[in-house]
Amino acid sequence: MKNIHNLLITWYLKNLRALPWRETTNPYKIWLSEIILQQTRVDQGLPYYHRFIGQYPTISDLANAPDDEVMKLWQGLGYYSRAKNLLHTARIIATEYHGVFPTTFELIKQMKGIGDYTAAAIASFAFNVKQPVLDGNVYRFITRLYGIETPIDKKETRKAVMEVLLHLMDETQKPAVLNQALMEFGALQCTPKKPKCEACPFVQDCFAIKENKVGILPMKGKPIKIRDRYLNYFVFITPDHRTYIKKRIEKDVWLNLYDFPLIETLTNQTMKELTLHPDFKTWTKSSKVKAIEVCPLVLHKLSHQNLFVTFIVLQIDKPLKLKNSPIFEIEKNIINSFAVPKVIENFLHRIR
Ligand code: ADE
Repeated sequence: MKNIHNLLITWYLKNLRALPWRETTNPYKIWLSEIILQQTRVDQGLPYYHRFIGQYPTISDLANAPDDEVMKLWQGLGYYSRAKNLLHTARIIATEYHGVFPTTFELIKQMKGIGDYTAAAIASFAFNVKQPVLDGNVYRFITRLYGIETPIDKKETRKAVMEVLLHLMDETQKPAVLNQALMEFGALQCTPKKPKCEACPFVQDCFAIKENKVGILPMKGKPIKIRDRYLNYFVFITPDHRTYIKKRIEKDVWLNLYDFPLIETLTNQTMKELTLHPDFKTWTKSSKVKAIEVCPLVLHKLSHQNLFVTFIVLQIDKPLKLKNSPIFEIEKNIINSFAVPKVIENFLHRIR
């Protein structure tokens, strides 16, 4: 196959979406956009990108920001460890690198929270380094076009795709544009469902079209194991409109966010069963408790976990017993100033 790189770049220049991180070579802005886009669609990620750049125009501004402020700004994006790593790396670059982003793929990859993909994106988009970006979009396009039929989670598949990409890179002086073009082609044209094969510049060359394998490429890998967890949250309300929250400090989902007193169970439990739990008994030892609302279970899917979340709103007549507990009391109305997981944000919207 010849001239793939040129056809692709021509297609890109005609079809690209104008996005703010494509109009800059500032590595900080590119890095930020890539971390946001790892977990969000472009239309959902854009407002976050603008808010972050508005509040922290430079990497030093981000490095100097308080942790809780950054987590609050990240709220709703999920995968909070990414925000934490972002801040950690901003501080390392601000101090150890004097605010100057490293310029090679290898050095960039050493930063916390930056893997192969993100390092390649930053190195190529910001510094025009010849390093292929290999995301889901690129995998799909290349495995279909070249007929790479091994499962996507196999090392050999990655190696084969990488070889093709390195070859394409060698043929162009524009690694940054080629990488953007590869990703954009997968995102807009060679899509997972209903790819636009009838209007594809590679229709003559494409293995998947010729072999009628567009629907099965890329080959799926092993399904990942998914764990079910039941998170039963207690929203205690005192007579003077106060409630209780805690910071999540365990190595678990939502690290450093705030949530309500929680009883986690392996199965769905009734209200009655939950009130017999030792934690619940300790908390409410000296108060009268009246259930106001038991919210239906909400399923919150993460990549490796199904979280079944419920909120039980309870009126109490006396403060909770909280000896040696990380749970603390706040005025109910100020909960909005704490960074909370998306499910809690949704709950707070519902009850307002
Ligand atoms: N998704 C991840 N990175 C992207 C980028 N640079 N442009 C558009 N979508 C993306």
